[in-house]
Amino acid sequence: MAAATGPVPYKEVGDEGTAARDPLPRDEFAGLVASLPRKEQFLDGRLYQGFWLPEHYLPGVVAFQRRFTPRRPDDVVLVSFPKCGTTWLKALAFADVFTDGHEAMLDRLPSPRLINTHVPYPLLPEAVTGDGGCKVVYICRDPKDMVVSLHQFLRRLQPDLSFADMFDSVAVDGTAPYGPMWDHVLGYWRASLARPDRVLFLTYEDLLQDAGEHVRAMARFMGRPFSPAEEAAGAVEAAVELCSFEKMKGLEVNRRGTSGSYKSMPRDAFFRKGVAGDWVNHMSPEMAARLDEVFRDKLRGTGLTIPRGPRHG
Ligand code: A3P
Repeated sequence: MAAATGPVPYKEVGDEGTAARDPLPRDEFAGLVASLPRKEQFLDGRLYQGFWLPEHYLPGVVAFQRRFTPRRPDDVVLVSFPKCGTTWLKALAFADVFTDGHEAMLDRLPSPRLINTHVPYPLLPEAVTGDGGCKVVYICRDPKDMVVSLHQFLRRLQPDLSFADMFDSVAVDGTAPYGPMWDHVLGYWRASLARPDRVLFLTYEDLLQDAGEHVRAMARFMGRPFSPAEEAAGAVEAAVELCSFEKMKGLEVNRRGTSGSYKSMPRDAFFRKGVAGDWVNHMSPEMAARLDEVFRDKLRGTGLTIPRGPRHG
């Protein structure tokens, strides 16, 4: 995890203007995308191999699925369900982002690369999941907080966005972006049980509970444990502090401007409350019970339970 050997931020390889020149796979997979069942919603979805992927990002996902080849043993793929702690995990792991299918740019990144995606486990390329693949770190979160976070996030662009519709897309038909959430989470959960050396399963609530412990675990898992000297120098605590909600929210770069190549999102929207349990302020006890029941049912017998954190508010 030492900075000197860490990955180079994605931006640096785009500085020579290559990002703009990378061809996107949009045209190549236009026919495939057009042939898939569609759901009109804030981020229009297409049902691809059992998951509702945002139409805009689907060509990049297909390109990733078909062509991404990890560099072993260095590459690490960071995966999250949207609004479950992607930004935090990326900061903690110095991640780079693969969302738009800038394949040539990805190729140019020096090793070790950290690649971030929301791609469901069954859609990961065989080159990642099979023998000779690479390591994967996954993060998920209490679905109740995830729904609230997603709604609050998208409302920044569409203030009249219905919470009831958003809730249904997670709790009822699973059409939320990259959903069904239960299948997304279970794919990585089962993989983490089958191959603990290859898939590390984390929750947002775990990180809230003890970020240091999980940063250590992540560093060990990635094959870059903190050395005794780094431990003694307080490197773990420093990393946690550097990536804390307050620190990141307060950074000038995160307070102004927008990000996103598709919908332009104010950067400060990525830092809202940063707690567990904020759902109590946004959903009725009946809705919460219903969502819990759906997930309890889906997770039954898997050994996974809905993540719980200390109540907020
Ligand atoms: P809330 O909306 O509940 O505040 P993602 O990064 O996957 O989009 O997830 C967004 C959620 O992570 C938001 O949750 C956001 O506030 C929270 N978050 C972002 N950075 C964080 C950090 N450094 N520490 C803790 N939570 C963070």
